[in-house]
Parts: sequence; C-alpha cells; structure tokens
Amino acid sequence: MKSGVHELQSIVLKAAEKAKKETINEPAPETPKKQKWPISCTVGPGLEGAIACESSVGYVNGAKGWLVYRGYNIFDLCAYSSYEETCYLLLHGKTPKKDELAQFKERLFDYTKVNNVVRRLLGFPIEEMSVMGALRLGTNLMRSRYSDFDMKQASPAGFDAVGADEDSFAMETVPLGSNHATYEFKPKKRRKKVKLKKHEFDKFVGEEAAISLIAGISAIIAAVSRVHNGKLPLEPLPGLSHAANLIYMVTGRKPTPLEERVMDIALILHADHGMNASTFATLVVGSTLADIYYSVGSGVAALSGPLHGGANEQVMKNLREIGSKENVAEWVNKKTAQKSKIAGFGHRVYKAYDPRARILGPLAALLSEGDPEKKKLFQTAVELERAVMEKFGEEKKLFPNVDFYSGLVYSALGFDDELFTPMFAASRVAGWTSRVLEYMDNNRIFRPRSLYVGEFNKKYTPPD
Ligand code: ACO
Repeated sequence: MKSGVHELQSIVLKAAEKAKKETINEPAPETPKKQKWPISCTVGPGLEGAIACESSVGYVNGAKGWLVYRGYNIFDLCAYSSYEETCYLLLHGKTPKKDELAQFKERLFDYTKVNNVVRRLLGFPIEEMSVMGALRLGTNLMRSRYSDFDMKQASPAGFDAVGADEDSFAMETVPLGSNHATYEFKPKKRRKKVKLKKHEFDKFVGEEAAISLIAGISAIIAAVSRVHNGKLPLEPLPGLSHAANLIYMVTGRKPTPLEERVMDIALILHADHGMNASTFATLVVGSTLADIYYSVGSGVAALSGPLHGGANEQVMKNLREIGSKENVAEWVNKKTAQKSKIAGFGHRVYKAYDPRARILGPLAALLSEGDPEKKKLFQTAVELERAVMEKFGEEKKLFPNVDFYSGLVYSALGFDDELFTPMFAASRVAGWTSRVLEYMDNNRIFRPRSLYVGEFNKKYTPPD
C-alpha cells in the first residue's frame, strides 16, 4: 500500500465529483415545510412509501443518490470530518466547537471501558454465538447496569395504550395496481403530548445512554471477536481515536494512520440512513417507552438479517466462491436461472448508484494494492458489478449498495468475515440513538394495521 492518508481525502472528493456529474448535479431541495398531520401517502408492500414520522437527522434521495446528515452531504463528512464529530452532529443537530468535541471524545472513551459488561458476557457461551447474537445480549447487559434505577414513569399512560384492535374492521382501501394501496388518514383529535423528564430518563433514553451505547457496542464487538479467536478482551488505549481503538481492541495492534482513517470513513458513512429496517425497529421499540438499550438491541437484531446488514458477509462468500473475474459471467447466469437475489445489489430506496458504495469501492481498490489475493477478490467484485448492472441495471435499476464493497474494506483492515455486520452496527448505533432521542420529543407509539384477508363465521368444532 503506497498511498497515504492525504490520498483518502482526494479519493472521497473524486467520488463526490463523479456523483455530482452522474446523479446529483441539481440544486438541493428547499427545506421542507413542517407537515400538518395526519397526512396522506401511498403505501406499498413492506410499508414502501409510508412516512412514519418527521426527522431532521438525515435525508436520503434514492433517485439522485444523495445522502445527507443534518444538512451536510456524506462526501464532505467523509472527506473532512471524523466519526466522533459525526456522532456529535447526529445527536445534537450541529457540528461541535473544538472544546465540545474534545469533551465528547473523552466521554466516548470513558464509556468504551465496559469491563463489567464484558465480564458478565463471559459468563455466557459467547464462543458458540454469532457476534451479532452476543451483541444483542451485550446491549441488554449494558441496560442491566442500571436495573436498580427503574423508570416509574415508563409505564404506559392510559391514552398511549392501543384502544381497540381495528384489524377486523373493513378499511378504506382503494387498490392501485396489484402492488399498491392508498390509505386515507382520517383526522383524529390529537392527544396530549407526553414529555419525558430529562433528569429521570437520561440514563435510559437520553444523551448519556446514547454515548454509552455508541462506545459500548464497539467494545463488546471487539471483546466477543477476541474470545472467538481464543484471546482475552482488550481495554481501549487512551489517546487513540474511536476508529483506531476499534481496530486495536479487535486486532491487538495499533493501526497505521491510513487504516485508522479508512475505518473512520467507514464508520462515518454507515452512521445513518433514513428509515431503514433497523432504524425503524429501534424506533418502534423506543416508541413504547422501552428504554434505549432495548431499542438498540432490536436494531441490532434487524440489522443481522441477510437482506439488511448481513448482506456484506454474503458478498465476500460469493466473491470467494466465484474465485476470479473470468468465472463471473457463468456464476451470474447460474444465480439468475435460480432466481436468486445477488447480495450487495439493489435497494428499496436507491434507484441510482449508492453514494456509500462510490466511496467504499475506491477504498477497497486502494487497500487491495500490492496484495495479489485481495486484488483478485477486488477485480472479481468489479467484474461482478459490471455483469449485474449490464444484466439488470437498466431494467431494474440495480446498483451496488453499501454492503457490496464494505466486506473487502473490513477484510483488508484485518477483520474476520463475522465482524462485517457488527462493524455496521458499531457505526449505525449513532443514527439509531439520534433518531430515538429525536422521536422522544414528540413520541407516539407506532401501531400500524394489517389488512385482514382471512375468513369469518367459521363454526368451532372441539378437537375430539
Ligand atoms: N439481485 C437480483 N435481483 C434483484 C436484487 C438483487 N440483489 N434486488 C432486487 N432485485 C429485483 C427483484 O427480484 C425485483 O424484480 P421483479 O420486479 O422482476 O420482481 C426488483 O429487483 C425489485 O426488488 P424488490 O425485491 O422488490 O426490492 P425490495 O425493495 O423489496 O428489496 C433489497 C430491497 C432487500 C435490498 C433487495 O434488493 C435485496 O434482497 N438485495 C440483496 C440483499 C442486499 O444486498 N441487502 C443489503 C441492502 S443495503 C442495506 O440494507 C444496508
């Protein structure tokens, strides 16, 4: 690897230029006006198109390939910011001043020392669990540190309970093609706003809990990974950035400045992404006034699925199975004939090139330089991207997503495949927590409906 840290910035800026030319060479949209709820929207299967809430944390425009955190585009944040600064930005809605950033870094570092949680975790058979499975347990154990201080006010207020199950009533449904339905939201009297008292909830749903989760998740992932490799967990080293400590706590060696910055960029660009499945899962649990540790545990569970964050592990398996770029065409034909979806491609929102893949692709290229094995895998990936886009790109708008190149990057940093999805969680926890805190300001329990398509009036007959 000849290149240095300074080259990373120009790689990101070049990716930004390319994105600008291909998809985003248009003025930014005007700041949207606050909506008067209830609103009408067209909903497809999988809640496609449904608007769950308002948020000013982040913005994704799938048609143009835009990703924005709190008004700043992802390319600028990756080129000039750090993960710590990005976390502060997501949580507080503004970039930190120098002293605020220094203080935030200190707090984050202090919370990375989760020896008590790791000790408890070691009492479970984590060597037999996946890292994501152990991480779910770990987030619960982080919560149990506070179990003596329980939330009196967390019991649901009467008006927050679901009054009636409306599923069995006919709904105002106007079919619109086979895949879509339009729902009319009838105005209802607004209920009294529930305002949480900051001092009582800070440990459970406040900034303090958010920082402890952002820090603790990285430390738990690293500890589990070391146990899986027959090694003892490591404490973070003072003076290292969050990205550098994450690499150190996993591998046991201080990263080079280049590795540290690559990790930092990877953390920045996974930190938030609109109302994706894991963020929605986190918010749904948060909306019940369960505390943020349990909410984040749900996010971890949702992210582990192969259709979401779990895809990056599958991408690496595929690349190894394909073996070399010469075998790509035959492999793609086989998968197409089997009607299999190809991991690392497609997205519910992006119908343009995913800006995160635009950054991760060149980073993977840089990191594979000088290593024949890695270079072969990278070249296989490039050929797979070309072949899939040629086959489906035009018709189905299939582009590589964030998971396509991230495994190659993490693998070059020295991480085992089982850590790819956990690394996603180590970053996305910033978005999960920022959005839960934002939602708590105007909380309303999530409770959509399902469309009952079963039978009625069946006559009950006892088993005998
Ligand atoms: N390979 C081949 N065809 C695909 C792929 C793919 N990866 N993704 C979508 N398609 C096709 C579908 O078969 C469908 O074709 P059809 O209209 O002929 O039936 C069309 O494109 C639309 O796809 P849907 O499945 O309806 O898209 P949906 O929004 O429901 O799913 C998803 C999005 C889950 C990401 C899907 O593209 C997929 O399974 N991709 C592979 C897994 C993956 O990479 N997940 C990571 C996503 S990024 C993230 O979560 C961090």
